[in-house]
Amino acid sequence: MVRQSPTALAHAVLRTTSANYAAMIQFWIDLLNADIVHATPVLTFLRYDEEHHRIAIVQTPDTVDKPKEPQYSGLDHLAFTYPTLTALAQQYAHLKSLPQPILPIWSVNHGPTTSLYYRDPDGNKIEMQVDKFRGKSRC
Ligand SMILES: [Fe+2]
Repeated sequence: MVRQSPTALAHAVLRTTSANYAAMIQFWIDLLNADIVHATPVLTFLRYDEEHHRIAIVQTPDTVDKPKEPQYSGLDHLAFTYPTLTALAQQYAHLKSLPQPILPIWSVNHGPTTSLYYRDPDGNKIEMQVDKFRGKSRC
């Protein structure tokens, strides 16, 4: 049997409440320097590169806030890679300079990456990173 791996992680879809829908869209536009590809009152697609969308945000009236307790299972965070430490720092400075600044909740040198962590208006955690070993082949 031939085994195949995907070429990329294509996108993530975030479900939010009606109350947070607009704030979530603006946060993700700012965070990723993204553009809206398509938007309706319940679903918005955002892109920042060649993919038709990387993040989608969906809201329905019956969506409720997720539990804040960290012991719940599920996705812990999404990570986005920048090409250089300079690019990561420039985006950090841009987000900090916004009228409503977006600031990291944690910065860390993991070893393989230098990372800044953020939280969106729903509390989802996002890692913005530079991969120090970019281009090394998979073992
Ligand atoms: Fe991570």
